Amino acid sequence: MKTWTLAAAALGAVVLSGSAALAGEVSVARGAQVAITSGCHDCHTNGYAETGGKIDPAAALKGTSLGWQGPWGTTYPANLRRVVKEKGSEDAFLQYAKTFQARPPMPAFNVHAMDESDIRSLYQYIVSLGDAGDAVPDYVPPGQEPKTPYIVIAPPIMPKG
Ligand code: HEC
Repeated sequence: MKTWTLAAAALGAVVLSGSAALAGEVSVARGAQVAITSGCHDCHTNGYAETGGKIDPAAALKGTSLGWQGPWGTTYPANLRRVVKEKGSEDAFLQYAKTFQARPPMPAFNVHAMDESDIRSLYQYIVSLGDAGDAVPDYVPPGQEPKTPYIVIAPPIMPKG
């Protein structure tokens, strides 16, 4: 009985030190976790889904040039390193993250609903990624042909942006 309890406690310690971040804390580690669990890498990190969730440090949250096309036109997941650089401070990013609007399929409402500590952590994580790199291609209005590959989302699935 006692051995089992000790083993469980030891296992718990290993799991905790592995995942590191706790809800409510403001840290780069928590931001890294939020970016994964909130799905930001899914669209904003090149190769993330294709590699089964491996994060290439050179590409993390730099956006992609794979377009998403629907009734709103064609959009490109933004380079979030450039966004944080542009905002310039954690407070300015917090303000922005609570209110910004974006076209589909960007779920801006999910970011609006984040806790302040998660948004601050996300800011610190994105800043820690380093070099901002290049902007993604410009938005293409409906009816115009994009110069990049793109995914077509059938009109009934997504609202008009
Ligand atoms: C389903 C794909 C998808 C997911 C998931 C996603 N994004 Fe986006 N995101 C986009 C696209 C596409 C755009 C560009 C929208 C536009 O052009 O209006 C965008 C734009 C943005 C912008 C606006 C940038 C600007 O220059 O105005 C921010 C900020 C952003 N995303 C943050 C996030 C964060 C944080 C997460 C994780 C919670 C996330 N995104 C998850 C696809 C996605």
